[in-house]
Order: sequence, then C-alpha cells, then structure tokens
Amino acid sequence: MTPRSCAPSQKALHWVVAILVFALVPIALAMANLPDGPLKNALYEWHKSFGLTVLALGLARLLVRAARGAPPLVAGLPAWQRRAAHASHMALYALIVVVPLLGWAGTSACCAPVMLYYTLPLTLPISGGMPVGEAILKVHQVAAFTLVALVALHVAAALHHHLVRRDGTLRRMLPGRERA
Ligand code: HEM
Ligand code: HEM
Repeated sequence: MTPRSCAPSQKALHWVVAILVFALVPIALAMANLPDGPLKNALYEWHKSFGLTVLALGLARLLVRAARGAPPLVAGLPAWQRRAAHASHMALYALIVVVPLLGWAGTSACCAPVMLYYTLPLTLPISGGMPVGEAILKVHQVAAFTLVALVALHVAAALHHHLVRRDGTLRRMLPGRERA
C-alpha cells in the first residue's frame, strides 16, 4: 500500500542525516587541510564518528523506506521530473550508505583503530596498509563530492517546489501533520 504522507520517523531520519552530512563536509575539508596537531586529530575523530552515525541512520532509513514506502510525488509533474526525482532519491539513499562504508573501509586499512565517539573500537579487518587505504579513501572522496553535488540539486529542487510551484512537497517533509 502507498502511504499518503511521510512517517514522523522518516522525517526525523531525513533531517538528522541532512544535518550530519552538512557538518561532515566542512569538517572533512578542515581536517584534510589543517597542519598536524590536536585540532586536526579531533576533527578526524568527529568525522569518523558522525560518518558512522550516518551509516547507521542511512541503513535505518532504507529499512523504514522498504517497509513503509513513500508518498507519491505531487501531481502534475512532467515525466522527466518524476524520473529525475526517483533516480536522485535512490542515488541519495545509496550514497549515504556507500560514502561512509568507503570511509570506514579505507580508514580501517590505513589508519586503524577506528573508534566510535572515542569509545567503541570498530576497525574492519582490511589488510593492505597505506596503499590500499589511500586508494579506498580516494574513492570515498569522489563519492562524497558526488553526494554533495546531488544534495545541492536536491535542495534546489525542494526550493523550486516551495517557491516557484508552491506545492506541498517541502511542507510534507517538515515536522507536523499535513493539511489535506
Ligand atoms: C556520509 C558520510 C561521510 C561524508 C559525507 C564524508 C565526506 C568526506 C569528504 C568530502 C572527504 C574529502 C576531504 C578532502 O580531502 O578534502 C572525506 C575524507 C575522509 N573521510 Fe569521510 N565522509 C563520510 C564518512 C566517513 C567515515 C565513516 C569515515 C571513517 C570511519 C571517514 C573517513 C575519512 C578519511 C580518513 C578521509 C581522508 C582525509 C584526508 O585526506 O586526510 N569518512 N570525507
Ligand atoms: C544530506 C542531505 C540530504 C539527503 C541525503 C536527502 C535525502 C533525501 C531522500 C533520499 C529523499 C527521498 C525520500 C523517499 O522518497 O523515501 C528525500 C526527500 C526530500 N528531501 Fe531531502 N535530503 C537531504 C537534504 C534536504 C534538504 C536540505 C532539503 C530542503 C531544503 C530536503 C528536502 C526534501 C524534500 C522536500 C523531500 C520530499 C520529496 C517528496 O516528498 O517528494 N532534503 N531527501
């Protein structure tokens, strides 16, 4: 059965993942470019922990989506926009899982241990050391910038719906009950 609206859990997961991704990218740029020191090390730790949190929440999103589905797109959209919306949503779901997985695998290979919030050791058993780790992290970087580009398009589409088409697309992703 197709639901008529997004469940509160779907909305909450959507916005928490969005906030974490918006934090992760500037943290990544800062940690990669700062000189060695305690701030750089701390940013690496927060990047890894926020990233692993996105992975867990991304998997939860996929489960809720598979179990519940999503409301149909608003009526009256041209076919190419419906196709673009579906394809970009699927790509966003894939990237919020694949990007952190690549970061986790690369860091485990080159720069163990991976600690979740300074406490839980979560290093994956990946051998190969620095060359393998660096190669995986290169793919992680490219995938992460692809995610950023797709999010920019996604936000532009959401704003177009809200400000130009003035339909309920953005409102139905916001907290609270939808008006009929
Ligand atoms: C959605 C989640 C994530 C996003 C959006 C993200 C984003 C990024 C970006 C944009 C960079 C490139 C920085 C640059 O070179 O300028 C990067 C690098 C990196 N990320 Fe992530 N990341 C995520 C998850 C993770 C996870 C889960 C880990 C490890 C557990 C991780 C570890 C790293 C490492 C080690 C680098 C290399 C930094 C360097 O070149 O020194 N990332 N990440
Ligand atoms: C990292 C950031 C983001 C990611 C990964 C993301 C991902 C997604 C995904 C996968 C969906 C599809 C939900 C489904 O059909 O199951 C979605 C829907 C939506 N997103 Fe985002 N999103 C992000 C940020 C944003 C931002 C900043 C806005 C608003 C400015 C936004 C507005 C929306 C809206 C309005 C929908 C509902 C579309 C509809 O009901 O047809 N998203 N998002």
